Amino acid sequence: MSVILEKPGWWAYTISFAIADSCVAMDHPPVTVFLAIESSCDETAVAILRGEPGGITEVLASEVASQIEEHREHGGVVPEVASRSHSLCLNGLVEKALHTAGIGMGNVDVFGATMGPGLASSLLVGSTAAKAMSCVSGKPFVGVNHMEGHLLSPFMDRSEVPPHVGLIVSGGHTLLMQVRGAGDYLQLGSTRDDAAGEAFDKVGKMLGLPYPGGPEIEKAARDGDSLKYDFPRSMMQGGELDFSFSGLKTAVLYTLQKNRDAKTEDIAASFQAAVVDVLVEKTMRAAKHVRAGVIGLSGGVSLNRTVRDALSARCEKEGLELAVAEPGVCTDNAAMIAFAGLLRFFAGFTDSLDGDIDPNLKL
Ligand code: KG4
Ligand code: ZN
Repeated sequence: MSVILEKPGWWAYTISFAIADSCVAMDHPPVTVFLAIESSCDETAVAILRGEPGGITEVLASEVASQIEEHREHGGVVPEVASRSHSLCLNGLVEKALHTAGIGMGNVDVFGATMGPGLASSLLVGSTAAKAMSCVSGKPFVGVNHMEGHLLSPFMDRSEVPPHVGLIVSGGHTLLMQVRGAGDYLQLGSTRDDAAGEAFDKVGKMLGLPYPGGPEIEKAARDGDSLKYDFPRSMMQGGELDFSFSGLKTAVLYTLQKNRDAKTEDIAASFQAAVVDVLVEKTMRAAKHVRAGVIGLSGGVSLNRTVRDALSARCEKEGLELAVAEPGVCTDNAAMIAFAGLLRFFAGFTDSLDGDIDPNLKL
């Protein structure tokens, strides 16, 4: 391993491995079938992808078993309910994915799983299952960061992840990342309190809407007046790239307490408009800051049409390319985990079966 590059991303590692001892064969790269398990929160997911270094990755199967109904009566995710449900449906989901892909377990070359961030008891179910399959089959195991899955998900249909600024807006995170290449990331901004999706869910609860609140607020907002309430857009001053949504959430609460006859649709539309303004402004600011020409948008909140349309319009105006994750890979899924895992594998990384999960794993 004689080539040392400054701040190497995975592609740089790939070069050094190839030069050293052919850990990854660069000339005629093998086609690899990767089976990944995602179980970081309340979706159990199994996906099988086939790919080769520098090629377009093919999704052979992507199965998701959502637990939303089980958690709905509690108004949020209950960790023990989540981990029990993961362990009950995982075996069937693996079989279903193999069936959909039209392959047997013996055709899988690498196993992977989400190692964090997420709920400890949920992460343990998926990662232990994937490690067990790896152990029994003698095939390698690759641990994946859930946030990296989201981050790379807008580029699953490309042969290369371009340098870009990635905005991840999910239930647990709001992150602005500078991506210099696969595996080479710099955090530009994150939330100081609630994540964007969390704010949607909490405001949904205040409005008496079912869990999760995000899609429900989007629905209600269609018939509302987004100018009716002037909710705060926090931390917009200077060049600030961090986010804060707790003041907005409190403003919604006070407005509801003061205006008993406030229309749900108007609150939803005005709240959504405030979130969108902040997300779009900070993303454009980040792109300008690092001179990025491409923006990636991912995570559950990226399903929101108003978020997509507003960011798309600003990108068009500023001459930037916008890559948005396909709807099927916006909320939690295993295809994005397998994609990130495949890139890690092609870069020469595998992980020990003794490695632990990390509920607070950072990108
Ligand atoms: O990425 P994800 O599945 O989970 C995490 O990794 O956290 O995102 C789930 C979040 C939830 O907070 C949900 O309310 C939000 O994404 N969400 C939406 C929409 N669809 C899902 N938020 C706003 N508008 C939507 N259409
Ligand atoms: Zn997620």
